[in-house]
Amino acid sequence: MIQICDHKLLIFLLLIMSVLACETTEILTFTGYEGGKVEIRCPYESGYEEQNKYLCRGECPVCNKDKVVESGSPAKDRRFSLTDDRTTHIFTVTITDLRTEDQGKYWCGVRTGLGKPDKYTEINLEIKPVFHMFGVTGEHLNITCHYNSDLKNNIRIKFICKGSNLSLCESSGVKATTERNSNGRYSLRDDESAGVFNVTIPDLTLKDSGIYWCGAGETGPKYKNKWISVTDLNIV
Ligand SMILES: *[C@@H]1O[C@H](CO)[C@@H](O)[C@H](O)[C@H]1NC(C)=O
Ligand SMILES: *[C@@H]1O[C@H](CO)[C@@H](O)[C@H](O)[C@H]1NC(C)=O
Ligand SMILES: *[C@@H]1O[C@H](CO)[C@@H](O)[C@H](O)[C@H]1NC(C)=O
Repeated sequence: MIQICDHKLLIFLLLIMSVLACETTEILTFTGYEGGKVEIRCPYESGYEEQNKYLCRGECPVCNKDKVVESGSPAKDRRFSLTDDRTTHIFTVTITDLRTEDQGKYWCGVRTGLGKPDKYTEINLEIKPVFHMFGVTGEHLNITCHYNSDLKNNIRIKFICKGSNLSLCESSGVKATTERNSNGRYSLRDDESAGVFNVTIPDLTLKDSGIYWCGAGETGPKYKNKWISVTDLNIV
């Protein structure tokens, strides 16, 4: 394998790469929570089915790549694993038992062959801290969601959804929004000046235990929700 480690050349190459990256790529963001699990999905072009795939952490320079997992060999850190779907051309890196220090920049990498630069897609991994709350059967409680000023006076709808799996939570687990309540049970009150919304859950039952995500969104296609905070509710 050809290693290019001359510093001036390296800086020059990185400059070219970053210019190209700015022009062509969009950063993909994935969100998980402490103790949870995330699946980072990396699409790649057809023709690279047989090549090794990997996830690289940090700036991922030309030399000394910090590969957290690569296809064909188990990761040093067993929390990371990689599967490659050669039919859909997507490889997936799963990270379990997430920690806040996992947050940051990564790159999906695809090997291209001897002497050629690998193909990269930039990834932003966001890890939310978890607020632990306890409730008592038959009583009520408020899940409080503090949001930043960028969400104040914003047309985004605020909402709460239930489920440890974020994609299922946002698609089918929405319980209440600033516009409606899913079944008359939950109620959401937004105090924009304080940057806080509360969701009241009355008459708690054991089934209310679980992970709740506070989010903000917009209606319409191609839109991505913004995640505010995560609460792990335990009913005793
Ligand atoms: C979330 O659920 C979907 C649909 O069941 C599944 O394909 C996906 O792997 C799950 N994601 C995680 C992080 O478990
Ligand atoms: C929940 O919020 C409502 C209204 O904001 C308040 O009346 C109630 O006392 C709160 N309950 C708890 C347990 O804090
Ligand atoms: C939210 O709930 C907390 C306590 O549970 C209460 O102090 C606060 O006033 C509530 N805020 C709103 C906007 O209901």
